[in-house]
Amino acid sequence: MNEHDRLVGRAARDAKTVLFIGGLDAGKSTLARATAAYALHVGRAVAYLDADVSQKTVGPPATVGMKHIRSVDDLTFDRLAEADHLGFVGSTSPADHLLPLVGALARLRDRARAEGADLVIVDTGGVVGGISGQLVKYYKVDALEPDLIVGLQRGEELEPVLGVIERFFGIDTVTLPIHPGVEPTSVEDRMAQRERQMSRYFAQELHRFRVKPTVFMPSLPPLFDLKELDRLMVGLSDGSGGFTGVGHLEYVPEDGGLRLISPVAEPPKALRLGSVRLEANYRAKRVDLRNLFGTE
Ligand SMILES: Nc1ncnc2c1ncn2[C@@H]1O[C@H](COP(=O)(O)OP(=O)(O)OP(=O)(O)O)[C@@H](O)[C@H]1O
Ligand SMILES: [Mg+2]
Repeated sequence: MNEHDRLVGRAARDAKTVLFIGGLDAGKSTLARATAAYALHVGRAVAYLDADVSQKTVGPPATVGMKHIRSVDDLTFDRLAEADHLGFVGSTSPADHLLPLVGALARLRDRARAEGADLVIVDTGGVVGGISGQLVKYYKVDALEPDLIVGLQRGEELEPVLGVIERFFGIDTVTLPIHPGVEPTSVEDRMAQRERQMSRYFAQELHRFRVKPTVFMPSLPPLFDLKELDRLMVGLSDGSGGFTGVGHLEYVPEDGGLRLISPVAEPPKALRLGSVRLEANYRAKRVDLRNLFGTE
């Protein structure tokens, strides 16, 4: 048995919340799925919490998603992509959106527990370096309180972030080398992959709703030109703190109004404005709402 298999066995049997950390293409999601499969096998009630807002496993890009894993079929890519509950972050870069990110993660973890999960497996994004990597990991750990952290590293790139976690939280961390089977992807591949995931989400049957300018969070400044919101990504509120999905706005020049385009059939209770505009091919382009609104 190799050290990856031993780790999977330990995490699947003993952990309550296990968090996988590693740079881009470290094999985090693969090991998280393997842990879920083995945990099912030993009779645990498993939830998969996808905290990566960029290269998604559960839910569309710019969200965090939670899915209960009730059978191995739930671990196929298509089934895993369908979240049981979603949190909306509104951006594919986590560092500038820590508050929605950790707030949503804590909420999804609580939902997973309340709905019976006794093992929560957390898959995270590949930003591990610099201030951003340290802050994002620090606050994910702070919010989720994992009892086991697994670091997958090529060299010593995780030492700063793991050092922070050990010093501040005293949590058990295990480091593993990256599996030789892992194939690195280029920046272009990753961008194309995100666009594919977003396009796939919007390739479902789409619904259009007329949107009143009063439903947004944050609310629009007076005399705001609604045209500025064309193709902005939004999160669809379920009216009780969660999100039913994502969509994008469309400006209709004929009536000067906005429509919501989304695969969610149920009309939303309110809309959280995201920080990306979905261009052609569903490429996400950053938008700073403060700049757009001209306010602080
Ligand atoms: N143990 C393994 N054996 C063979 N192939 C693997 C293994 N682990 C990962 N891979 C392959 O390497 C690639 C990257 O793995 P994976 O998606 O799990 O990494 P990740 O760290 O989650 O990446 P990302 O930064 O994109 O989230 C995938 O194509 C996966 O199939
Ligand atoms: Mg991954």
